[in-house]
Amino acid sequence: MLEEPEIVKHLRRVTKRRSIYPPTSVVGVLGSSRKNGNTRMLTDAVLHHLDSARLFDLSDLSIAPYDYDDAQTQDDFLPLAEQMAQSQMIIFASPIYWYSMSAQMKVFFDRLTDLTKTHKMLGRSLADKTVCVIATSTSKTPPSSFEAPFAKTAGYFGMQWGGMLHGSFEEDRQMTPELNASAATFAEKIKSALQAPCALSTPPPIAP
Ligand SMILES: Cc1cc2nc3c(=O)[nH]c(=O)nc-3n(C[C@H](O)[C@H](O)[C@H](O)COP(=O)(O)O)c2cc1C
Repeated sequence: MLEEPEIVKHLRRVTKRRSIYPPTSVVGVLGSSRKNGNTRMLTDAVLHHLDSARLFDLSDLSIAPYDYDDAQTQDDFLPLAEQMAQSQMIIFASPIYWYSMSAQMKVFFDRLTDLTKTHKMLGRSLADKTVCVIATSTSKTPPSSFEAPFAKTAGYFGMQWGGMLHGSFEEDRQMTPELNASAATFAEKIKSALQAPCALSTPPPIAP
C-alpha cells in the first residue's frame, strides 16, 4: 500500500485534534512545580489583560521525555503543539530553578524535537508565531543564560522573539504593585505584537 504523504497525515491530525481545544490567539504554557505559585500568579496577571488567551499547565498534561524511537505519540504533546500552531503568540512561563528553566519545561522543549522529525509539517507551521517568556525567581535579575534557550529555540523554528518578562518575588506568592505594573506593561507589548506582528526585541547575544 502507498504511504500517505506527510501533508495528508498532518491534515488528518489537525482536523482530528482541532475539536479538543478551540483556537486562541495566545497560548500560554506553564511549567512549574506549584500550580498556584509565583509563576502562575505573574502569568495570570499578564493573561488577565488579553482577550483570547488559554493557559496550559504542564502539570495537568501527560508529556513524556523525548524518545529517539518516537514511542510517545499518544501523549498530550501533539494536541498542545497543534494548539500552538493555531495561535499567533506562544508564552512560555517558567520559574528559574537552579539558573535554568524548570524540569517540566525542559521535558516539553526536548519534545519539540518531534516537530523536526516525525511531525515536520507541524514544526514548519510554527514559523509565523511570536514567542515570549515569563520567568520568576527570588533574584533581582535572571541569570544571563536563562533567556537563550527560549530565544534560540524560537529562532530555530523561524518564530519571532518577543522578549522576556522577569518577576522577582522577594515575598513568596506576593504580587506587589511593581509586579502587577510590569505584567500590565508586558501585556501591552503582547497586544501591540498581535496587532502588528514584528520582532519585539532583539534576541540576546549568544556565542555560536
Ligand atoms: C528547585 C528550586 C530552585 C531554585 N533556583 C533558583 C535560582 O537558581 N535562582 C533564583 O533566583 N531563585 C531560585 N529559586 C526560587 C524560585 O525561582 C522562585 O521562588 C520562583 O518564583 C518560584 O516559582 P514557582 O512558585 O512557580 O515555583 C528556586 C526555587 C526552587 C524550588
